[in-house]
Amino acid sequence: MEQFQPLRVAVLGSGRGTNFVALSEAIQRDGLPVDVRLVISDVETAPILAHARERGDTALYLPPGAFRTKLDEVAEAAYLQALDEAGVEFLVLAGFMRILKGPLLHRFSGRVVNIHPSLLPAFPGLNAWQQALDYGVKVTGCTVHLVDEGVDTGPILAQRAVPVLDTDTPATLHERIQVAERELYPSVIGALARRQIQVRGRLTRGFSDGR
Ligand code: GAR
Repeated sequence: MEQFQPLRVAVLGSGRGTNFVALSEAIQRDGLPVDVRLVISDVETAPILAHARERGDTALYLPPGAFRTKLDEVAEAAYLQALDEAGVEFLVLAGFMRILKGPLLHRFSGRVVNIHPSLLPAFPGLNAWQQALDYGVKVTGCTVHLVDEGVDTGPILAQRAVPVLDTDTPATLHERIQVAERELYPSVIGALARRQIQVRGRLTRGFSDGR
């Protein structure tokens, strides 16, 4: 029997929502002790919102405000209010294309997890799969990390490698990375919910990929 109270999470995403769907399926299939209280997007038409509604989850479009890469002050307050009202204790970023800063990050300090489509610290920022192709690496992958003040710099919880093929286009490489993401992210979130991961500064312990 599961001995943990479910971890009350919000999932934040700006796009297709394949990581959200993988998490939601893993919760149902594997009984992860995770309770998705809320799905929020900064993009009104993002498929992640439709996926959430189809699955019976509360889904909110919250406008990001005036800036292109972060939330403005008014938006940040609205996000915080929605998260508080839903009793959220942990944030899961799943393709949320804005940098979290200020009060929102402080409130959830050490309790925000992100997935990034490269083997960090290589290729932080946007279009990481394109950066990998342009650089000419032979192996890339995905990284699950805690979010800190920097851009893709927080403590690394888990990584999965993906080979780069000579025939890869940006789309085929990203798709193979996303297959890895959909396996890795739910299992790390499950380990977080079971309090199996310890964090000491940059060093983290407790997640075994089992591969
Ligand atoms: C994923 O590949 C994720 O790693 C990436 O956005 C995609 C979202 O896909 N995130 C970033 O690049 C963050 N810097 P999804 O909406 O299908 O889950």
